[in-house]
Amino acid sequence: MPRILTINGSTRASSTNGLVIQAITALIGDRAVVTSYRSVADLPHFDPDKDVLPAPASVAHFRELLQVADGILICTPEYAMGVPGSLKNALDWTVSTADLRMKPVMLVTASLSGEKAQASLLGTLRVIEAIVPDETTVLVPFARTKVDMDGITDAATRSEIQRALDAFLAAL
Ligand SMILES: Cc1cc2nc3c(=O)[nH]c(=O)nc-3n(C[C@H](O)[C@H](O)[C@H](O)COP(=O)(O)O)c2cc1C
Repeated sequence: MPRILTINGSTRASSTNGLVIQAITALIGDRAVVTSYRSVADLPHFDPDKDVLPAPASVAHFRELLQVADGILICTPEYAMGVPGSLKNALDWTVSTADLRMKPVMLVTASLSGEKAQASLLGTLRVIEAIVPDETTVLVPFARTKVDMDGITDAATRSEIQRALDAFLAAL
């Protein structure tokens, strides 16, 4: 059974991206074991001087979760035309330890628009050698109107996510 770690780029309690993760987890069903990373806000600010062994406890925990996962699901909004700082910070902690190297990633950018954050994240994920094919990359603009507690309410978005998820699971 493949293991998937989910990471939310939003730290908001009632995050739309949290609802997307919940909906995708339901779609995964018994096809994988899903672990949700608690919050990217748990990590300290990246500092190369602290990027030594032993790593700060929260960083070591995050890295362990990444290392035991077969694939990573990232769902994130866009802030100020870019990647939320907390998510970029989390990815910066993985550079020296290459925790995402050769790991399949499904990237969902669920935001008002989101193109800039998606493009920037793809650049970051590729430079750290994660595997992010176009088939597992989904942009969900106007996300707040397309998802609720019951799942993905917009039919076109639901089928796009289902297709991406099938490709992601096949890659694991
Ligand atoms: C400070 C701030 C800046 C934002 N900038 C953008 C932006 O540049 N592009 C965009 O698509 N949405 C932007 N948004 C709107 C977010 O996409 C929206 O709040 C989204 O629902 C956040 O995701 P979440 O519900 O998972 O927290 C911004 C929101 C905040 C709070």
